[in-house]
Amino acid sequence: MKMQKRILVTGAGGFIGHHLVKRLKADGYWVRGVDIKYPEYEPSPADEFEILDLRHFDNCLMATRREVDEVYNLAADMGGIGYITAFHADIARNNTLINAQMLEASRQNGVKRFLFSSSACVYAQSKQRDAEVIPLREEDAFPAEPEPGYGWEKLYTEELCRYYWQDYKFETRIVRFHNVYGPLGTYDGGKEKAPAAICRKVALASDPGEIEVWGDGKQTRSFMYVDDCVEGLLRIMACDYHDALNLGTDELVTINELVDLVSDVAGKRLVKRHNLVEPQGVRGRNSDNHRLRQALGWEPSIALRQGLKPTYVWIEEELQRAGRVPEPKERASSAT
Ligand SMILES: NC(=O)c1ccc[n+]([C@@H]2O[C@H](COP(=O)([O-])OP(=O)(O)OC[C@H]3O[C@@H](n4cnc5c(N)ncnc54)[C@H](O)[C@@H]3O)[C@@H](O)[C@H]2O)c1
Repeated sequence: MKMQKRILVTGAGGFIGHHLVKRLKADGYWVRGVDIKYPEYEPSPADEFEILDLRHFDNCLMATRREVDEVYNLAADMGGIGYITAFHADIARNNTLINAQMLEASRQNGVKRFLFSSSACVYAQSKQRDAEVIPLREEDAFPAEPEPGYGWEKLYTEELCRYYWQDYKFETRIVRFHNVYGPLGTYDGGKEKAPAAICRKVALASDPGEIEVWGDGKQTRSFMYVDDCVEGLLRIMACDYHDALNLGTDELVTINELVDLVSDVAGKRLVKRHNLVEPQGVRGRNSDNHRLRQALGWEPSIALRQGLKPTYVWIEEELQRAGRVPEPKERASSAT
């Protein structure tokens, strides 16, 4: 009988990690989840879920013990643009400790494959100064000029993965995510990303009403729905490609267009108030998927409008549960 594959997901209490655990369990794998917290909105279906701080090497050894075949290393101290611009030292230090030690513990414990979740923040900032961007190819990360703190650490850990492959023939995979969104993601408290923050602001706004948008709204991005992200992770882990791969869509939108899409999904008429004091990150960023298509014969394809619907509905329902947005019935009766 074929042995069931044993998989470790770190960061399994977080947004992408939790979705990945659900998918791996649905596909029939044995899964251990590790994090410093449990998933916020629903219990994890992992076979084992352990609370471990992976900044400590002993905990990394514990997480990878007893014949783990594959590690998806998603644990990271991270958040949206407000958070990663404000905390360079802590983010860089925490993530350096997690990643360097998870890599070494996985190697020592005989893990067969290790996937590192990198980010589009590794790309040279000078190539992202124009909203009319040329999509970023993997080689555009060099000469190195990444996002301070968070991006430098990701780029360095990518190199570390390459060294482990070169020196030990330890099988590493490197994935550069471009803005992942979907239900069960942080939508409040300072760590949320643009799509979730905008869904929250739209859900909280009156109709007609006004919402605040960071920057002039002309900055551009592409956004990937979490189901595409999880599908891409499984495919990249299974493929033979060792170097970095973009994982994102190339559907470029301005933040103003993102706001309009969310307002449309919500059925609200909203005016944008631009706040030029808050950080907006790079001016423009898009994913070039040539190499991904070559390596996988596949790329993310869920359209932004399609993915925003379940994301908005989930955030609105969360806000209703918290009593911050009236339930649909109350809304109807207060309108009469
Ligand atoms: N979501 C995105 O758009 C995006 C974009 C680029 C890269 N990434 C990367 O993907 C990965 C997952 O991101 P996410 O969006 O799910 O973020 P997330 O913050 O929801 O998940 C990260 C998880 O790591 C855990 N963690 C932090 N410090 C830890 C520690 N010391 N020990 C154990 N666990 C710890 C957190 O508690 C959290 O649950 C991260 O590596 C992130 O850098 C995400």
